[in-house]
Amino acid sequence: MKVKITETVLRDGNQSLIATRMPFSDFEPILEKLDQAGYHSLECWGGATFDSCLRYLDEDPWERLRRIKAKVKNTKLQMLLRGQNILGYKHYPDDVVRKFVAHAAQNGMDIFRIFDALNDFRNIEVAVDETLKQGAHAQGCICYTTSPIHNLEKYEAMGIELEKLGVHSICIKDMAGIMGPQEAYDLIKALKKSVKIPVFLHTHSTTGLGPMTYMKAVEAGCDGIDTAISSFSGGTSQPATESLNYALKQMGFETGLNEKVLKEINDFFKTKKTDYIASGILDAFVMGTETDALVYQVPGGMLSNLIAQLKAQNSINRLDEVLEETPRVRKDLGYPPLVTPMSQMVGVQAATNVLAGERYKMVSKEVRAYLKGEYGQAPGEVDPELIAKVLEGEEVITGRFADTLEPAFDRTKKEIGSLARNDEDVLSYIAFPQVAEKYFLRREEKESRTVTYSIIKKEVETV
Ligand code: CO
Repeated sequence: MKVKITETVLRDGNQSLIATRMPFSDFEPILEKLDQAGYHSLECWGGATFDSCLRYLDEDPWERLRRIKAKVKNTKLQMLLRGQNILGYKHYPDDVVRKFVAHAAQNGMDIFRIFDALNDFRNIEVAVDETLKQGAHAQGCICYTTSPIHNLEKYEAMGIELEKLGVHSICIKDMAGIMGPQEAYDLIKALKKSVKIPVFLHTHSTTGLGPMTYMKAVEAGCDGIDTAISSFSGGTSQPATESLNYALKQMGFETGLNEKVLKEINDFFKTKKTDYIASGILDAFVMGTETDALVYQVPGGMLSNLIAQLKAQNSINRLDEVLEETPRVRKDLGYPPLVTPMSQMVGVQAATNVLAGERYKMVSKEVRAYLKGEYGQAPGEVDPELIAKVLEGEEVITGRFADTLEPAFDRTKKEIGSLARNDEDVLSYIAFPQVAEKYFLRREEKESRTVTYSIIKKEVETV
């Protein structure tokens, strides 16, 4: 039996360990090798990479995609897309979602892994539909979480719903690394029974469960897993590609990976890792095993956000109270999976409830929008008293929120004018307006400098 391996070093490994600060020039020399390793796919775009390119790395994310595609000719490129949110935190109108998917496909993206934080699949159906129209691979996600209302039957029903949407495969996304080996076994077994399409598993090493969870998932018939080349594995990243490959082959599974090429890839990234440690981009803390997530059932990233938030308000001594309040807020909100943006919303609300000395005395505009139904259908019942208190009689939206949004692409294209050179620029601007605008201005400036330079150079030569 074959187990498909997706390499995450360029996206999730990069994002989880060094906050997505790896510039294209750092990994350009190894792209051809990555293409020769035998991976099922190379996750290299989407998630936080897009924002990071524009904000920190002075790179055009679309250009990055084209350049990767130019060197990775055989292995499928994969991206992570947050459904109707695309890569941001709010809902975009359908025309923007369609344009984004179409341009990503036309620029070389092969596999679109699409998720919604609430597992409300009305929020991924347009992205899935456009992916299918573009002839690309649509992978629908189930965000994994544990709660009194999440059980095997519920996950099976989600799998069936995704299959009906027409996706080519399903990915169970354990963003917090809290799925244990037995849970993985049971879940994969259940899904493999109820759907015909391949089932993939995505987890993180954060709590140390990752490699065990993958092994049991594969035993249960899991079709593919996500791993990171060893120097960028472990801790908050994925389990190591080489170790999983070794163990899987020993157990009689095929992976299609070439160990010699993997070694060369790892040797390359090892030198990069040394650089990132030296410059402080890579913090030792994220490389270790952090089991608090198992105790508190909150993702590691959310825990560090909470600590930072409390420290900033000189209230770190209230951390235990906030951690006790967190599951209560989550229950009030109908047990949303703690993935972005829900993890931030729940965390901030729990801290506010504790620090204000009264629950829901203050509510963020995001939580208010959530209660109004703008993020979609909550997995469980939202506390009716909370809705009454916050919305004060305002109506809750039960339809698909994006249906209420006006098309935005053509209007924005006119608005931004010549600063955008193509439709891709317009999409960057829609996703991150201020950040993209600053990037466009820097780009103009850089080019005008280059022009001046070449004129001067020419004069010197003529003289
Ligand atoms: Co992840």
